[in-house]
This record gives sequence, C-alpha cells and structure tokens, in this order.
Amino acid sequence: MKKVEKIYNVDNDITLHLGDSFDFVKRIPNESISLVITSPPYAMGKAYERPDDDIGTFIQKHIELFPEIYRILKPGGSICWQVGYHVKDMVVTPLDIIIGNIISDFNNTILTEKFILRNRIIWTFGHGLNSFHRFSGRHETILWYTKGDMFEFDLDSVRVPQKYPGKKYYKGEKKGEFSGNPLGKNPSDVWSIPNVKAKHVEKTDHPCQYPVVIPQRLIKALTRKNDIIFDPFNGVGSTGVAAILENRRYIGVELYESYYDISLKRLQDTINGTVKYRKDEPIYEPKGNSAVLKKPEHFKY
Ligand SMILES: C[S@@+](CC[C@H](N)C(=O)[O-])C[C@H]1O[C@@H](n2cnc3c(N)ncnc32)[C@H](O)[C@@H]1O
Repeated sequence: MKKVEKIYNVDNDITLHLGDSFDFVKRIPNESISLVITSPPYAMGKAYERPDDDIGTFIQKHIELFPEIYRILKPGGSICWQVGYHVKDMVVTPLDIIIGNIISDFNNTILTEKFILRNRIIWTFGHGLNSFHRFSGRHETILWYTKGDMFEFDLDSVRVPQKYPGKKYYKGEKKGEFSGNPLGKNPSDVWSIPNVKAKHVEKTDHPCQYPVVIPQRLIKALTRKNDIIFDPFNGVGSTGVAAILENRRYIGVELYESYYDISLKRLQDTINGTVKYRKDEPIYEPKGNSAVLKKPEHFKY
C-alpha cells in the first residue's frame, strides 16, 4: 500500500513536505519531474500571504522559481500554472500575462529546450464575488508549457461527452454513421467546472482550492503512470489527490501547518479510497428523447 512520506527521499512514491518550496526545490534532482502543476499565491492579502506582498512580490518570486522549475523538469515535461487576477485600487492585472512575460524573459537566457506555450485554458465557473463597477469575474486561466518540442498528450484519456452524441452524417460516404468519436470529444481550451466554494464536496478550510478535476485532467493527458508530479504551492493537496487517483508519484510542498495537515489527511484518504471529490462529469447531462441527444450503445463514456 502506498504511503505519504513526510521526509523527502528521491525514491518516495508520495512526499508531502512542510516548509518553503523555494528552499525545498533545490533538493529535487535535475530532470526528474514530468509535470509541475500549481496555483501560486496571487498577492491578494489572503490568510497565507504577508500583508506587504504585492504584484512586485509575485514577479520576484516567479523570477526566482522558474530557473529551478526548468532544472528539475524532464525534457518533454510540462508545467501548468493556474492563475487569476491581481486586483488593487480597481486596477486589474491578469497574472497569466505576467507569467508569460517572465517565461519569455527566461527563455531568452537559455539556448536549448525553451518553454513552449501549448494552451491557455480558460477555466470558467458560475459563482463568485459580484462586482458593481465592472463585470463580475467568472474565469481564471491555466498556462500549459512544455520543455522543448517533444511532449506527451494523451487526448483519448480526457475526452468528454459530445453535446449531441447520437448525431449522424446526413450525406456523403459516411451517411448514417455516427459522426462523433465513441470516446467523446476534445474537452477544448474552455473548461466549465464548478469552483470549490460553500457546499462543494471538496471544500476545506482553505480559501483558494482548485477542484481536483483540473489537475486530474492535466495529469491524465500530460503524463504516464508512475511519472512524478510536483506542486510547489500544495495548499490542501488537490494536485496530490489527483496524482494518487491516477497512479502517479507526487511531491507537494506547503508552508502552513494547518493546510499541510488537511492535505495529509486528504492524501491518506485518497490512498484508502475514501476521499471526497467531484468526478470529471458534465454539469448537465443531455436530456430529451431526440435521437441526436441519446448516447449510442457503443459509446465508451
Ligand atoms: C493558491 S493556494 C494553492 C491551493 C491548491 N491548489 C489547492 O487546491 O489546495 C497557494 C498555497 O501556497 C502556499 N504557499 C505560499 N508560499 C509558499 C512557499 N514559499 N512554499 C510553500 N507553500 C507556499 C500557501 O500557504 C497556499 O496554501
């Protein structure tokens, strides 16, 4: 049975380290990590941030972190940075633009295997704070970069149901055959997934969890079984839950003991098969009797 190790050893299956990832990352061997998925602090005055953290802190921390992330990442590995907006004095700064600029500058310092942007995924959700002087924010983004040209992408593992699964070709050589892929369709770069608020089954005391399904999709598509996933801003371990569910190895680092403890329990519950999480299923199932809305018998999902 797998075990969550609190003390890091390169051979561990699952490591959950309590401490500062800027120190810890230096202990990870070169080119040993297949995928880094994280959501960093946005410098927005959350309980886990210092009061004087600002957009400059966000920039400086990332300038410091990316060379280490690059060093530990295998050639062909991926990084997925999930970020939203920094808002101060009614000025809105999209953090993915900042990350994009930092990575471009970093790329200028290396001669081979640059970070290459593959997708900018929009994560959209139905609920959040209401704004009165601008449109209410209902999305954040995920930047997916690969290290170099060669990379993993297992589309079939993350296909989602078609809107009209029973739709058939109505003319041409394939007339009468189902037009959809029986494994489902490409989930696209716009993901409509409920955020973890109030009564969400994954909600803990952490103010900014992302849903397990976000790292789960990325892990399935971008890595293979037993690859190592690293989250330098572990929070309550949503990336780790997804990694264990998908039989990958995991390293998570969290600065605060209260979140670390919640995370430890979630990872152990995942190993025991008792963790609560929202599965990657459509929010709304197609309804109705029309033939195009019904899923054909041979469809796999
Ligand atoms: C946005 S939250 C990540 C939440 C996570 N994705 C989840 O679903 O639980 C960022 C986390 O990074 C942690 N953190 C901030 N600075 C850190 C550091 N230097 N080293 C390790 N963790 C840090 C914070 O305590 C916070 O829990």
